[in-house]
Amino acid sequence: MILPIVAYGDPVLRKKAVEISEDYPQLETLIANMWETMYNAAGVGLAAPQVGLDIRLFLVDTSPFSDDEELTEAERQQLQGFKKVFINATITEEEGEEWTFNEGCLSIPDIREDVNRKPQINITYYDTDFNKHTETFDGLLARVIQHEYDHIEGVLFTDKLSSLKKRLLKGRLDKITKGKIQVDYKMRFPQLKRGR
Ligand code: NI
Repeated sequence: MILPIVAYGDPVLRKKAVEISEDYPQLETLIANMWETMYNAAGVGLAAPQVGLDIRLFLVDTSPFSDDEELTEAERQQLQGFKKVFINATITEEEGEEWTFNEGCLSIPDIREDVNRKPQINITYYDTDFNKHTETFDGLLARVIQHEYDHIEGVLFTDKLSSLKKRLLKGRLDKITKGKIQVDYKMRFPQLKRGR
């Protein structure tokens, strides 16, 4: 089932999400619905707060990025078929010289901006069988994970922009909050005024 994606301005996107246990109700169904919702919106990642739930859960599938012609064969193989569910994740370390990548977000349609992040991360998380993993990721994989991880910390990529950029974007962000935007997937807008 495709779930509505919560738009910029909704308080759930600003909460620090909480850990879940193995017996979280209908977790399997929720994850299946989140995959369906993400693919329907042509995203490479989706976090639970984006479907209105303040829990530490996000999904990543970087396959669409592997078509990029500028990638090396090794990078392409890394991104191809990388599909993972992260439960109760904690990024324990971020390392290296910050690099820039043009990011977007399904909760902030039609806005893309360059964001600086460190290239390498260590992350601890649980898979869908609640087995614990500690792994290192770098490059674009780390980038997508960092973006989704921010969602469960209540952070959005627009928070990382300069104050000038934020001022310039304010009007467009307000429009998103009010639902004054055309989007080709289902969304839930916090301040949508229904016509009388
Ligand atoms: Ni996002």
